[in-house]
Amino acid sequence: MRKPFIAGNWKMNKTDEEAVALAEGLVKEAGDLTDRTMLLCPPFTSLKSVYEVVKNSNIKLGAQTVYWEKSGAYTGMISADMLKSVGCTYVIVGHSEQRQYFGETDETVNKRIKVCLQEDLLPIMCVGELLEEREAGKAEEVVRTQITGGLTGISAEDMKKITIAYEPVWAIGTGKTATPEDADAMHASIRSVLKDLYNEDVAQSVVIQYGGSVKPDNVDELMSKENIDGALVGGAALKVDSFARIIKFQN
Ligand code: PGA
Repeated sequence: MRKPFIAGNWKMNKTDEEAVALAEGLVKEAGDLTDRTMLLCPPFTSLKSVYEVVKNSNIKLGAQTVYWEKSGAYTGMISADMLKSVGCTYVIVGHSEQRQYFGETDETVNKRIKVCLQEDLLPIMCVGELLEEREAGKAEEVVRTQITGGLTGISAEDMKKITIAYEPVWAIGTGKTATPEDADAMHASIRSVLKDLYNEDVAQSVVIQYGGSVKPDNVDELMSKENIDGALVGGAALKVDSFARIIKFQN
């Protein structure tokens, strides 16, 4: 059985004070739900203070990326050890904005995933096609390549610790959502890639989130689909009311 998993990616939003207020509101609303995994991914600057708010609740803490070296002269980077030291258990890896603006590739995704696994952090690997790739009928091929590249050298045992987030790039922050049917079909295709790379057991046990304009009014339908196990939420994760409703999805 795959446990539903709702994550909020706050991106480059929230001062420390605002981050604490949002986390406090969410702990009050949803901090005692036990049948789903709930995760907040604030900016690095608020990881420690948000951890103080969520640490006695069922809400987990994650970072938005990690650097793959252990320590040293890498100005501006943050290591896995540093993330653990402020209470992180998850890390988003390969978000399309990292791919688009900061040179993330399948190779760098793979390095980040490996350091997470070495350091006992749980990666959420983001994949997804551009609009022109979907229109050219290449969406599944693009996602297959991202998954295969990102997971190079990862064992079946480690694969069970990884969450995949399918986020069609054209649906992120645009208000356009993939139809629940299209998203479910892509999730099924991702499971078949996992079956090819590993086995049926891995394909059936990996949690696959959908991301891209998930909102209170579409979360229930998305979550009712067989292959959609969760959501990675951007814009609608920035307010207590909307994210609390998403966490409390009904299906
Ligand atoms: P969105 O972002 O919900 O604002 O579309 C999702 C994401 O980028 O993870």
